[in-house]
Amino acid sequence: MFKLDDILSKPVRWRDWDQNASLLAFLSDLQANILKGHGRDHTANIFLGFGGMSRDQIAELLRRLSFLTTSALDQLRAAEAFKLTGVSGGRIVCVFLARGAYAKLGVDDGKVPGDAAFRAGMRARGKLPSLRFKGIPVDFPPLGDADPSQWDHGGPWSQANPEPDAMLLVADDSAEMVDASIFAVQRVLNGSGCRVLGIDKGLAQRRRQSSGGNPKGEGIEHFGYVDGRSQPLFLEEDLDAEPHARWSPRFAPSQFIQADPSHCTEVASGSYFVYRKLEQNVKRFKAQELELAGKFPGMDPERAGAMVIGRFEDGTPVGLLAEPAGGDPINDFNYDGDPNPAAARCPFKAHVRKTNPRSHDGEAERSRLMARRGITYGHRAKRPNGADFPEDDRPERDVGLLFMAYMADISEQFEFTQSAWANNPEFQHENTGVDPPIAQTRNRTSAHMMWHDASTKRDAEYDFAPCVSLKGGDYFFAPSISFLQRGP
Ligand code: HEM
Repeated sequence: MFKLDDILSKPVRWRDWDQNASLLAFLSDLQANILKGHGRDHTANIFLGFGGMSRDQIAELLRRLSFLTTSALDQLRAAEAFKLTGVSGGRIVCVFLARGAYAKLGVDDGKVPGDAAFRAGMRARGKLPSLRFKGIPVDFPPLGDADPSQWDHGGPWSQANPEPDAMLLVADDSAEMVDASIFAVQRVLNGSGCRVLGIDKGLAQRRRQSSGGNPKGEGIEHFGYVDGRSQPLFLEEDLDAEPHARWSPRFAPSQFIQADPSHCTEVASGSYFVYRKLEQNVKRFKAQELELAGKFPGMDPERAGAMVIGRFEDGTPVGLLAEPAGGDPINDFNYDGDPNPAAARCPFKAHVRKTNPRSHDGEAERSRLMARRGITYGHRAKRPNGADFPEDDRPERDVGLLFMAYMADISEQFEFTQSAWANNPEFQHENTGVDPPIAQTRNRTSAHMMWHDASTKRDAEYDFAPCVSLKGGDYFFAPSISFLQRGP
């Protein structure tokens, strides 16, 4: 067996890096943020265009950037140091290449990441009239992506810009430190011939639980729900700390990481990366929560929201408990006790049930999961540290989620989740309906709009309209650091 296959076949115990030369080489050459999220609250996603640059200029730029790039080992050791000493791990820099970078670098076809969706690009995939997936001989709904003319008009996704060739992700502990890092990166970019197409900045939102939980506050998204709790884990150290009686978060790294086709070293690895800027209409979402609750006399809008997302705002799974539990958000649950599509405690169309059905015999389903590493963007009204969003602060635009996820196969993981699950009203059962917040389709009948309240055993029809719009994005590959350093 090749050493890399061996490493990727089961969760990695990274602390053994000093016992195993292949593991040391792997962790030093793999970029940060893949094995584990970087956890910083401030980011800048800097999009670059290489138009007009020579191959040598691009290769030289990537070589210089390789020295700023954070490795998995740097990140994990810094996180450990922070735990032990309280000294911040500081800046993280990751480099992502889009298909255009490989073309402009003149990389041999066999050394270009082979994923067909990556090679086609997100814009082309988003226009397909239907999708097919491996081993399933039926057409699935289109991704339904908004046309780029409806994306952001300024910044990286302005129509005047070409598709990005690369993206730099810079993450740090404060907005000021991210700005200082942008300045440092800019010094490397200056004179290289590349063009900065624009920057999307990420700003995490946090809220403290009513009791217990993370003293810094849990990460929440703009509709007000704890986000990022459920993750496939592929570090043994993370798994040691995670309860797993009802749902196993244990995954082989090969579901998220693959050999870098450049094969610069025996263990050089990378990961496909999906980036989507998803604007959230908070006002519409919150109004619909109220309207849905109004269909069921006496229902608390919090509960209506939990039916839409599948978890209460504090992360408590609605299929497991009828009330928010506070504390550390539970992730050790499944839907075994909730199998009846017409009378489910957690509706089958709820966002988390659609995107991870958690079936026991679900190896095929589990193979769709991605390592989500998103961060919210946009500012909200000032509020005391750790407090909830005030009720009069319900933006309709300019806030949302920079959805980011690593995976080994863009079509079979991200696109499958969006098309065959979220956009498909017949998944998991006939007449389930589409995923209310993220579906990109209006393809539904009144049977798809049925909701059931398990506490009163009543049914009602309600058309929960989408509140999330695509404002930009692309498919990338996070190559090995050795590829960045050596070039094609
Ligand atoms: C603005 C858009 C989105 C919002 C507001 C949102 C919100 C959430 C929330 C609140 C959770 C529960 C917390 C957790 O389990 O980590 C969650 C989980 C999840 N979301 Fe999203 N999400 C968005 C977009 C997407 C997209 C585009 C996808 C994939 C196509 C996706 C896939 C998932 C998955 C796989 C989970 C974990 C489910 C589980 O393991 O139980 N989300 N999301």
